[in-house]
Amino acid sequence: MRRRCLSALLALAFCQTVVAEEPRSGYTYMEPATQAMQDDDFLNPGFFLVDEGLRLWRQPMGPAGQSCADCHGPVEREMNGVAARYPVLDAGTGKLVNLERKIQLETARMGAEPLAYESPEILSLTTLISYQSRNMPMQPEITPQLQPFLDRGRKIYEQRRGQLNLSCPQCHVDHAGDKLRGDVISQGQVNAFPIYRLLWGEPGSRHRMFEWCMQSIRARPFERGSDEFIELELYLVQRGAGLVIEAPGVRR
Ligand code: HEC
Ligand code: HEC
Repeated sequence: MRRRCLSALLALAFCQTVVAEEPRSGYTYMEPATQAMQDDDFLNPGFFLVDEGLRLWRQPMGPAGQSCADCHGPVEREMNGVAARYPVLDAGTGKLVNLERKIQLETARMGAEPLAYESPEILSLTTLISYQSRNMPMQPEITPQLQPFLDRGRKIYEQRRGQLNLSCPQCHVDHAGDKLRGDVISQGQVNAFPIYRLLWGEPGSRHRMFEWCMQSIRARPFERGSDEFIELELYLVQRGAGLVIEAPGVRR
């Protein structure tokens, strides 16, 4: 098994390299049946997260018995377009935060039980909020303060790593469109997240996907929710700027 995937990767290394193209959603690389699943909210296996997120949005949490809705009002109005500009510098903490981290900070503000990264609650709220930006282009606002984070994210993206000594663009730029173990390699864009991945049989975050890719090249991944992964995420949002948010996406 191990040898087979290694030789597949070696074969890849000798294919011709393709020049950088316009950003293209992973959706466009999928089979029609998987696309159809994403297109229909009733068939979309990730859509339950939107409903579950809405339930949580209205649920009192913490000692004051407040809900997200108590402070914010209707999610459709208040979170419209928010996911399209994340990650951002959080005013309160001065840290770069993605949506998941921001939601963790919000529940901490409420004094509620801390919600673990990738927990069903965080995934649901992230999906609900991302859904309020569906069909809106990802548009990070790269201020001078954000530039160093972006530069670090780019470095992580371009760094070769793991036993296979591969960088992200060696697959997602040089080999986008090529086959690898039953998958068609896409550009590795982040506009559909959280996604329901059929291979996992459950939904997952952007960071879970980064982790999966790093493990597949036998590299030690950063922690989900770590500064490094959020910087990488910022870089990927910038790289795919203009692609519309598809959350909840469906992938093979
Ligand atoms: C050995 C090749 C390979 C490398 C190296 C690799 N990936 Fe991937 N990646 C894949 C495959 C295969 C998939 C699943 C099919 C697809 O969507 O491309 C994938 C999927 C993704 C997706 C989901 C795309 C979507 O539309 O849902 C993202 C995001 C991603 N990769 C990011 C990364 C990042 C960040 C790195 C570097 C840390 C990386 N990948 C390194 C092979 C690779
Ligand atoms: C006590 C009132 C209060 C509660 C409860 C509250 N928030 Fe907030 N939230 C705010 C305020 C004020 C801001 C703007 C300042 C900031 O970003 O910290 C904000 C900002 C946000 C943002 C960032 C919006 C942006 O434009 O960047 C998100 C996302 C968010 N809240 C989600 C939630 C979620 C999810 C919950 C429930 C788990 C929640 N909030 C509960 C008061 C609250």
